[in-house]
Amino acid sequence: MSFWNGKQIVIGIGGGIAAYKSLEVIRRLREAGAMVVPVPTPAGLRFVTELTLQSLAGGPVHGELMQPRQPGEMDHIRLAREADLVIIAPATADLMARMAAGQADDLLTALLLARRGPTLAAPAMNPAMWSHPATQRNVARLREDGVRMIGPESGALACGESGEGRMAEPAAILEAARRALTPPILAGRRFLITAGPTREELDPVRFLTNHSSGKMGWETALAALRAGAEVDLVHGPVALPPPPGARLLPVTTAGEMHATALKAWLEPRDGRECDAAILTAAVADYRPAQRQPEKIKKEHEEPEMHLTLTQNPDILAELSARANGRQVVCGFAAETGNALERGREKLARKGCDLLAINDVTAPGCGFGSATNIVTLIGRDGWQESWPLLPKEEVAERLIRALHALLGQRHQT
Ligand code: PMT
Repeated sequence: MSFWNGKQIVIGIGGGIAAYKSLEVIRRLREAGAMVVPVPTPAGLRFVTELTLQSLAGGPVHGELMQPRQPGEMDHIRLAREADLVIIAPATADLMARMAAGQADDLLTALLLARRGPTLAAPAMNPAMWSHPATQRNVARLREDGVRMIGPESGALACGESGEGRMAEPAAILEAARRALTPPILAGRRFLITAGPTREELDPVRFLTNHSSGKMGWETALAALRAGAEVDLVHGPVALPPPPGARLLPVTTAGEMHATALKAWLEPRDGRECDAAILTAAVADYRPAQRQPEKIKKEHEEPEMHLTLTQNPDILAELSARANGRQVVCGFAAETGNALERGREKLARKGCDLLAINDVTAPGCGFGSATNIVTLIGRDGWQESWPLLPKEEVAERLIRALHALLGQRHQT
């Protein structure tokens, strides 16, 4: 079941040109299974029509403070209480000023004054208006009042100027909305995650690699971020948009991944050490013993060619060996037969706390797919098998398992 299924989202729409992007936010939320209630301000309705909002939301638009849908009903109170989340997009300078002052002169601001649950604002305005001390004061006040902010971003604006003030993109608003609704069980924790393939060059034009797309690692990073963790994401070459808020550490070779991951694991940042590592990356076990400086030429008389390979360092084994007793290490095992037996042997050999075993020959499992089938095993013989699930859900379950183990470690 999708995360958004059955969630009720009120989307407040201020009077700014970025209102057109809110239509895409509504479309995506509905597509994901959420119920969406649009609440435009009168100025918002000059940028997007009631008919468009109604068609996209698949239900009525609430715009008038003094015209409740049912006799005796208070729209602003009911909506404020029933919504799982209120998103304000675009949050214009005027709308935020009225919110910060506690005004309630239209349905949206009245609803926001009655609101006690999670609220997310996506500011959008001209850069001069955004950087004005009055706007910055209002934003600071709203943050203090518990309103989360997403954006604004820098870039070209509808007014013809360029700078900070552009409303965040719909995908970023949805991700921020999801984080606003996820319990922050990992707040204050720092996670190291590896993802994607590595590349080992033979010469300037060829390299050895594997089929990893980075999806499993990306979903793991997103799940950890949503749960409130700080995430260092060490990744090989992948073609995926960066998970918002992750500290990205791109590498190419297994040697670089080893050095970068080890540094993150051993060096505290701002006085904080890593609490856990989840190594989803498909790391090359071997690299060419020598990288040729020029393209290797085809030898016409030689039907065969032999490569000498040298073993790469094992990052999982090293991180596990250097863990301080409080830190938790979870590896992944890509197996192609006798998965559980080989997984158990791998966990013992590498010395990690948990190992997520996936048989990459099973349909819908492993490299490149949107789904995975995982059996999670622990040191003491503990194991849990999960059915075919979206990688997003595999990642969430993994994060919950690590959270539980971290809790046990920190109790003792
Ligand atoms: O990226 P996707 O397309 O979403 O695919 C996901 C995946 C199949 C890559 C992922 O689910 C997975 O199985 N990752 C581990 C792949 C792998 O290299 O497995 P392994 O059994 O060879 O290695 C075991 C563990 O040791 C892994 O955690 C690996 O990161 C680690 N390792 C391996 C070699 C090495 N030199 N250093 C390591 O740390």
